[in-house]
Amino acid sequence: MAIRKVRELGDPVLNKKSRVVEEMTPRIRELIDDMFDTMYEADGVGLAAPQVGVLKRIVAIDVGDGPLLMINPEILESRDTQTGSEGCLSVPGKAGVVTRPNFVRAKYCDENMEWVEIEGTELLARAICHEVDHLNGIMYVEKVEGELYDVVDEEEEDV
Ligand code: NI
Repeated sequence: MAIRKVRELGDPVLNKKSRVVEEMTPRIRELIDDMFDTMYEADGVGLAAPQVGVLKRIVAIDVGDGPLLMINPEILESRDTQTGSEGCLSVPGKAGVVTRPNFVRAKYCDENMEWVEIEGTELLARAICHEVDHLNGIMYVEKVEGELYDVVDEEEEDV
C-alpha cells in the first residue's frame, strides 16, 4: 500500500491529456492499487491517474458501491442533467456548482483489459464525467457556475 501525492490545481500535469493504456503491466497494477489507497485515504469518491502525476487513462471510483476501476473509459451516451455541488481532491477545501448529465453509458477496460459497459446515474454519472474530464486535462473549476466556495461540511464528496 502506498499513498501518492495528489497534484493540486495549478500543477500543469492536470491540464494535459492522458494516454491510452495498451496493456496491463506490474507497474500499472501498482499504480492502480496506489490510486485506490490514495482515494480512500483522502475520502474521495474518484481519482484519475493524472491527479497523481501519471498521464495514463486510468480512473478509480467508489461512490459507495465498491471499487470501480475504469481503464481507457469512453462515454458512449449521456442524457438528462443534474445540477449540484462538486469537489475534487486536487482542489482541497473547495466546491462549486456544476451541471452534468444525470445518466451516462460508458465503456472501459477492466483489470484484465477486457471491454465492459456500464450505466450510471446521479453521483456515479457525475463521477464518471468528472474523471473522464481529468483524462482530457479538464478541471471542474472550468465548468463551475458562479464561484468556488469553501467547504465546511466534511461529508462533501470529492471526485
Ligand atoms: Ni477531480
